[in-house]
Amino acid sequence: MGSERITLLSRREIDKMRRAGALAAELLDYLATLVKPGISTLDLNDAAEEWTQAKQARSAPLGYHGFPKSICTSVNEVICHGIPNAKQVLKDGDIINIDVTPILDGYHGDTSRTFFVGTPSPEAKKLVEVTAECLHRGIAEVKPGARIGDIGAAIQEYAEANNYSVVRDFVGHGVSHIFHTAPQIPHYGTRGKGKKLKAGMVFTIEPMINEGTWEAVTLDDGWTAITKDGKLSAQFEHTIAVTKDGVEILTLSD
Ligand code: MF3
Ligand code: CO
Ligand code: CO
Repeated sequence: MGSERITLLSRREIDKMRRAGALAAELLDYLATLVKPGISTLDLNDAAEEWTQAKQARSAPLGYHGFPKSICTSVNEVICHGIPNAKQVLKDGDIINIDVTPILDGYHGDTSRTFFVGTPSPEAKKLVEVTAECLHRGIAEVKPGARIGDIGAAIQEYAEANNYSVVRDFVGHGVSHIFHTAPQIPHYGTRGKGKKLKAGMVFTIEPMINEGTWEAVTLDDGWTAITKDGKLSAQFEHTIAVTKDGVEILTLSD
């Protein structure tokens, strides 16, 4: 970590990232309308793939290092990288993170949200709300001259003040025509530490926040990461650009 060079994107490249990002946000808006008790995670995957193709885009996860599906669907204790499955049917009270990454005109829009299936428990509702706020507090740190550690520190402070933990094993990342590149963006850290942010850097912030321990275990499928204690985990992700005077969220619907 920290040795690779960080590419600065041109205005033209950021325009393409904004278009890919808007498409990704619109895909999540569409999938949100389908999240209900009784739908399977494979149904969500297939709807996402069909929608993406109709927009002349491609699903980056499909075949990425062997990932078998078009989106990640991470239910309840799944931290991230859940694989859509016909046998996994959503039920009232579940929480599900849907993580999408369409590639449009060569550029990636990477975003995720955690949705409630039916009516959430008060515990699930609080975890999901705190996780969304963690993402926004991380984004609020971004401006030229700030440090990567400032982002993680803001997220960690808010998560831990709410008695939750921050996942260590998965981090945000640079994203462009490449899905995962430098820099790495930990969701924990120390203010004033880490590389300095510069205008033109584009990366994701994607905190995974757990009710219990931060420790993760990967299942035998080689992908699905779950909490070691089986307690709930939530996540939100945006792709952002560092601008001259602050930050622009690229994964917002038009
Ligand atoms: N979209 C995920 C991220 O936020 C990566 C998924 S990789 C996959 O970085 F292979 F699991 F799809
Ligand atoms: Co993602
Ligand atoms: Co990402």
